[in-house]
Order: sequence, then C-alpha cells, then structure tokens
Amino acid sequence: MSSIPAAPASFIETYRQQIDQALNRILCDSDGIPERLFKAMQHSTLSGGKRIRPILTLCSARCLGGSVDKAMPAACAVEMIHAYSLVHDDLPAMDDDDLRRGQPTCHIAFDEATAILAGDALQALAFDVIARKNTDLDPEQQLGMTRLLAKAAGARGMVAGQSIDLDSVGQTLTSEALSGMHALKTGALIQCAVELGALCSDQADPQEHTHLSGYAKAIGLGFQVQDDILDITSATAVLGKQQGADKELNKPTFPALLGLEGSKQKLKGLHEEAYSALARLNHRDTSELRQIADYIVTRVF
Ligand code: IPE
Ligand code: IPE
Ligand code: MG
Ligand code: MG
Ligand code: MG
Repeated sequence: MSSIPAAPASFIETYRQQIDQALNRILCDSDGIPERLFKAMQHSTLSGGKRIRPILTLCSARCLGGSVDKAMPAACAVEMIHAYSLVHDDLPAMDDDDLRRGQPTCHIAFDEATAILAGDALQALAFDVIARKNTDLDPEQQLGMTRLLAKAAGARGMVAGQSIDLDSVGQTLTSEALSGMHALKTGALIQCAVELGALCSDQADPQEHTHLSGYAKAIGLGFQVQDDILDITSATAVLGKQQGADKELNKPTFPALLGLEGSKQKLKGLHEEAYSALARLNHRDTSELRQIADYIVTRVF
C-alpha cells in the first residue's frame, strides 16, 4: 500500500472545481421557482462540500475508459441527492443541527418548511438532470442510471439507513447491525456514485463492475466510520458542523461501540479492502480511485 498523503491530491481539487461549475450552471435557472425556495436550494447545494460522491463518479468513469463530460450529469445528480439528504438530516425532527459546511443549516437560514421543500425539489431536480436528453449517452444507459440512483436514494437505500438510524437512538447495536445501517445511510449513495461512473463507460466487462462495486462498498462504509470518528476528534471550526453531535443525541456510532482505537482499526481494514478490490482491476489505471480511498480515511472534515 502506498504512503498516505496529508492533503488531498490536486486532481481532487480540479474535479471539485469542475463539479462546482456544473452545479452552478444547473442551479442558475430560477425561472418559475419561488424566490425563497430557489435561494434555499442554492444555499444547500452551492455553499461548499467536499463533493466526494461526484468526484467518485468522474474517477470511476475514467478508470473504465469513460469521460468526465459523459459522467458529469450523473455526478451532479448524485450530489443533489446528497445535498437534499443533508438538508433533511439536519432538520429538528432528525438530527436537529444548526451548522453545516460552516454555515447555518437550511432550516436556520430559511425556515423548516422551506428546508423540507428545498430538499424535495433538489431530489426531483436530480432525477431531471440524470434523465435529460443527452447525446453522449444512449437512452438505455440513462434508464439504467436513473433506476440505480432511485434504488440507492430510496426506501431500500439511503432513506432506509436514515430510518434505522432514527429508530436506533439510545440503543447498542451489534457491529453487524451498525455496519448495515451505515452501509445504507451513507454507503448506498457512495456505492451508487461509483457505479454510475462505471455505467457511463461502454467498455467495462461485468467482472470489472463487480470489482469496482467491492471497492465502493468498502469506501462507502469507511466514509461513515470516519465521519463517526471525526465527530469526536475534529473541532467544530474544522468540521464545519457541531463537534460531539452524535454523543449529544446518543447516536449509535462505531466509536460508541468499539472505542476510538477500535474504530480506527475498522477503518484500516476497510481501506485495505478497497485497495484489494482495485488490485483486481489489473488492466486499468486505478491510481485516482486509490487516492480517493486514502483521502476518505485521512480527511479531517
Ligand atoms: C456528510 O457527508 C454526511 C455523511 C453521509 C457522513 P460529507 O462529509 O460528504 O458532507 P459534505 O458534502 O462534504 O459537506
Ligand atoms: C448522515 O449521517 C447520512 C445522511 C445524510 C444520509 P450523519 O447524520 O452522521 O451526517 P452528519 O454528521 O450530520 O453530516
Ligand atoms: Mg443523521
Ligand atoms: Mg446528521
Ligand atoms: Mg455524522
């Protein structure tokens, strides 16, 4: 395994800027949208964020011979689903958080009803963007991508995980149950982001899709394990969200179950798993995907 970089590689920053530009283009058309709703949608999507999911879509497409241009609509769609999930996650009925990406959460900057509606609208917009007429992709490809996103975002994916999360407050889950919850609430969308990129390529064989899914599963769960760790170890000013929020709400997390050291070991195992899955893609350049795995386990916010 290569040494782990302290700062994200520069290609990550380059993709992030391209994604920000694409999201800005999508969210500059306010025609027909009530002004307050539109501003809340912009606030929740355009004000920062690491963009890890759309970056994964672009890198996975490139790894299998696809292009950034082909993958960009799907990348933006997955980020808009993520943005909506955060708006709802922060609501008083869910995690009741005031701070996100260093700014007031949507329901604080606007109001609760507007935040609910902004989330609803972002979700619909995501499906619009992924299904729009696109001369780079054939309609069959787009249909497959739309269904993949629907499954990952829905009641058997992210929303299932969020539901289990809320039902599990104050309980001690087994390690398997906690992994299952994390794999749904966070892993499903991350796995989908990687698989969407793969679907943008016309050249991949089924075995390659399987190996890429193995990588995605490992980093999807790893991402949430690190999120749980950072809730304890990273300061509010660095995180851009309230430190200690999980403990405050008595959330089931990996540090609560395994302690900080145990959680770091769990994360290390998932990082190794991600590397092993990529090693099976022996005819492909997996260096970007490897570096994203490094970034996920070393990030401080
Ligand atoms: C936060 O996701 C919520 C989780 C699923 C853990 P990110 O850490 O990707 O949040 P942003 O988009 O960078 O703000
Ligand atoms: C959020 O998990 C998962 C989704 C939004 C789907 P968390 O509740 O741990 O995310 P943060 O810590 O608020 O970003
Ligand atoms: Mg939550
Ligand atoms: Mg939360
Ligand atoms: Mg968290």
